[in-house]
Amino acid sequence: MIKDYEQGYFSEQNSAEVVAARNAGAKDERLRECVNILVKHVHAAIKEMELTQEEWFKTILFLTETGHMCNDWRQEFILLSDVMGVSMLVDAINNRKPSGASESTVLGPFHVAEVPELPMGANICLDGKGEPMMVRGRILDTSGNPIEGVKIDVWQANDEGFYDVQQKGIQPDYNLRGVFRTAADGSYCFRGVKPKYYPIPDDGPVGKLLGALGRHPYRPAHFHYILQADGFETLITHIFDPDDPYINSDAVFGVKESLMAKFQLIEKPDQIATSGFDGPYHLVEHDFVLVRE
Ligand code: BEZ
Ligand code: FE
Repeated sequence: MIKDYEQGYFSEQNSAEVVAARNAGAKDERLRECVNILVKHVHAAIKEMELTQEEWFKTILFLTETGHMCNDWRQEFILLSDVMGVSMLVDAINNRKPSGASESTVLGPFHVAEVPELPMGANICLDGKGEPMMVRGRILDTSGNPIEGVKIDVWQANDEGFYDVQQKGIQPDYNLRGVFRTAADGSYCFRGVKPKYYPIPDDGPVGKLLGALGRHPYRPAHFHYILQADGFETLITHIFDPDDPYINSDAVFGVKESLMAKFQLIEKPDQIATSGFDGPYHLVEHDFVLVRE
């Protein structure tokens, strides 16, 4: 007997099957599979919600506004994916690591390609604003061997919570960004400023949605790393300040326990004297473990 959905007759009960059957001729098998899974779950969700036509129209308007907010430097759909936990879920699925390896987290919208490479120990803070911080550690493989020549791309917000690209003309270009290479013993070191929590861009529809859901837009203080070495999987990650007030409620779900760093306040004159700073500073010591390809 021919089934309803094979004849193309649509009902509340068979809705997802009718759509899936219509997609049977897709040339790209992966596309067909993914679209049909999506349709199955979206239809199930709409049935569970008993969505009204008014609510569906509001959803369409929200997505339209999200699209209108996008331009060359603002990607509101990625922000939507971030605050819904989708970015972190895709990241988790694509970056399963063996135990002992450093974990990944979201890239975020503020990475800049082709930042100048700096000598080990250089200060990436170009405007002298903020509380001084030194970050150092080693990059190792999963057997504990140091990796030489790892490209370390770091970037952070200033202590007012803005990246240089958000404050063109206020912060110098490349402020609080740098590229470094590990030494033969896998070590790295750079200087910057103690980061502070900041809001993700919240002047668009995603910010309004967060407000309506009773959520704040803040990310806890962190700095970003991309670690790249021949023969190893590239690692995109962050280091977080565990004492930050938003550490347990990151707007984009990027925090993992293994990504917490300890910020020690160094006040001893002999340690200050060898640091390149002229007063107390924050020290973060953090090693990373990369996985061979
Ligand atoms: C960031 O950490 O730079 C970031 C990540 C996701 C959304 C907005 C900002
Ligand atoms: Fe960030």
